[in-house]
Amino acid sequence: MTNTRIPLAGVIGHPVAHSKSPRLHGHWLKTYGIAGHYVPMDVAPQDLETVLRTLPKAGFVGVNVTVPHKEAVMAIADQITDRATLIGAANTLIFREDGKIHADNTDGYGFMENLHSGAPDWDAKAGPALVLGAGGASRAVISALLEAGVPEIFLSNRTRVRADKLRDDFGKRVQVIDWVQAGNVVEDADLVVNTTSLGMVGNSELRVPMDGLKPSAVVTDLVYAPLKTKLLLTAEEAGCTTVDGLGMLLHQAVPGFERWFGERPVVDSATRAAALR
Ligand code: ATR
Repeated sequence: MTNTRIPLAGVIGHPVAHSKSPRLHGHWLKTYGIAGHYVPMDVAPQDLETVLRTLPKAGFVGVNVTVPHKEAVMAIADQITDRATLIGAANTLIFREDGKIHADNTDGYGFMENLHSGAPDWDAKAGPALVLGAGGASRAVISALLEAGVPEIFLSNRTRVRADKLRDDFGKRVQVIDWVQAGNVVEDADLVVNTTSLGMVGNSELRVPMDGLKPSAVVTDLVYAPLKTKLLLTAEEAGCTTVDGLGMLLHQAVPGFERWFGERPVVDSATRAAALR
């Protein structure tokens, strides 16, 4: 008898209602005519392991993991990729046929793909990058930038000890700058990345002074609601190339979809429209 099980995947978070992933994967399933389903699952932290061990028995081939479970899944997974280990968190799980859970982190990949597609002329080796924020997203961005060959990263965070910890983990190419001094290194940066939640709908604005921005610099924001943050508007006025944060969300989803459903999806304008719907 052939195996005719319909592959199931989804996103596990708590809460999860805000997630754009079901719309995104649903769009790709429809576009490629794949018989599969992708569902949101609200799972409380104490139930995470039980749910992850049970899902494969119900036909699930894997899941995305979002806040607050990205670190916790590291202790549950049986196999972890090097990049997930380096970041200390996973966002993509593959349930293998032998019952093992394989954990990966595709955030850095998504960040880099988005940067390359939005700023094709950006050259990693051209000069320093300024990264604002030192949370989970920042770890993924820093590891991707270092791997791409960025010579130096100025890292600035409101809570300095978190930035110091990242410097300890990633090494001397990361230089910590006091939060109140961040504006002083803007003029030296060929790339500026906001990984904080500042500028997001409902949050305060990012107030790091951007007067020093070079017109040749590339500026990108991980915040995608609004799509054009104040930071990106300021950067546009300064003549910089800007890249919004929605593409990172779309690109980070590609490796999971390919592993679960067997087709490598293309990120295009229809994908963006589907995620924004
Ligand atoms: P994520 O996984 O998205 O990175 P996170 O780990 O909660 O989320 O990190 C949020 C980031 O936004 C941190 O760098 C945080 O700074 P602190 O480490 O000082 O908390 C930053 N952030 C959030 N609110 C902020 C604010 N009002 N001012 C400055 N930075 C802020």
